[in-house]
Amino acid sequence: MYTIDQNNLSTIKKHSHPMKTLIKNIKGLTGILEEKIHSPLRGKELATLNQLENAYLIIENDKIAAFGEMGNLFSQDFDYEIEASDRFVLPTWCDSHTHIVYATSREKEFVDRINGLTYQEIANRGGGILNSAKRLRETSKEDLVASALKRIETVNRTGTGALEIKSGYGLSVESELKMLEVIKELKKHTNTTIKATLLAAHAIPNEYKSNRDGYIELIAKEIIPTVAKEKLADYIDVFCETNYFTVDEMTYLLEVGASYGLTPKVHVNQFTSIGGVQAAINHKALSVDHLEEMTEQDIIDLSESNTIGTILPSCSFFLGIPYAPVRKIIENNGALAIATDFNPGSTPSGNVPFALSLACIKQRLLPAEAINATTINGAFAMNLENELGSITVGKTANLIITKPISSVDYIPYSFGENCIEKVILKGKLTEVQ
Ligand code: NIG
Ligand code: FE
Repeated sequence: MYTIDQNNLSTIKKHSHPMKTLIKNIKGLTGILEEKIHSPLRGKELATLNQLENAYLIIENDKIAAFGEMGNLFSQDFDYEIEASDRFVLPTWCDSHTHIVYATSREKEFVDRINGLTYQEIANRGGGILNSAKRLRETSKEDLVASALKRIETVNRTGTGALEIKSGYGLSVESELKMLEVIKELKKHTNTTIKATLLAAHAIPNEYKSNRDGYIELIAKEIIPTVAKEKLADYIDVFCETNYFTVDEMTYLLEVGASYGLTPKVHVNQFTSIGGVQAAINHKALSVDHLEEMTEQDIIDLSESNTIGTILPSCSFFLGIPYAPVRKIIENNGALAIATDFNPGSTPSGNVPFALSLACIKQRLLPAEAINATTINGAFAMNLENELGSITVGKTANLIITKPISSVDYIPYSFGENCIEKVILKGKLTEVQ
């Protein structure tokens, strides 16, 4: 997918096992956790981003084998050496909320919005999610895999190493399964770590317009059991929102999902606060996502729960809707993740550094808080905390090597610039230029 620049690698003839790579003279090795942690960072903890200056890191096969200060690196043979002076090394982003499998872009709706229609008005006219469902049903699995892979390669270049991907543009037994099979197929063609979420309850499809209970029952009686039997999803999602799915409908589907082993990760409070946060917490949701419209009580209940609040600042940016009140969630000691929401309707971008910039500029997150929210907490929001999300010996070597920059704060500061020079996924180097 990318060409490896051999000039930047000094290859040593001997082929020892395991394959050992040294990254040396790192200006700042950032996102270190000496040991694996068992719960996501919350409240004040989010502001601590551990960093070692003038550091080295050793990769053995696909794992982080050691790291430390350059002065403590003892002489040994490596298969590859990567020079990282003036550069920062940090864990790749874990983007815990995307809809990266879709058939076509929707820039016509973008223009409609510029001309004055709202996202909801477009949806009411048959655009929005139903438009994507129509297109997806007409598109072959092969084409969906190919277009999603291109998007994955694009987000790899901006530092993403793990993705949660949702269904939700199928809205029938056949097409929801097709989407999840596409996600399963994607795993074979990328070094990106992928988790799959069933989002059959994304919108009521046209066939069920006058029979919404029929669609809910289809999800409960056919889609969930089949998806679970074929092990096609890790999570269950519901778009709990005015004009989409009610709190009672979500509650019912989360209960059915739980009986089939699917953990909830749900869309709540994007446009209205209708009680979705509390219902999701009560059903032990791993995360509640969006949170643009939060009452004081929503903030308190979320912050006191074990559920991660996932904010999607690029969605607020693109739709021109409020940004989630994250400072208040942090002040109340809540756990926070940042994801992109990459999808053709509300967020046609999977660029995590841009989401970081928005979180800092629009939501007053410190760069350290924002980086923790997209690395270790993003990993927690997809149950990948034992393998990804930090610089920890034994974790998978998923690493970002920046261009020469002055500090990691420069990454969100220099919005729109790609500060990333190399990305290592599962120990394999990819040049991103
Ligand atoms: O997360 N809000 C629901 N779903 C997506 C948008 C889906 C679409 O417009 O296609 C979101 O914003
Ligand atoms: Fe979404």
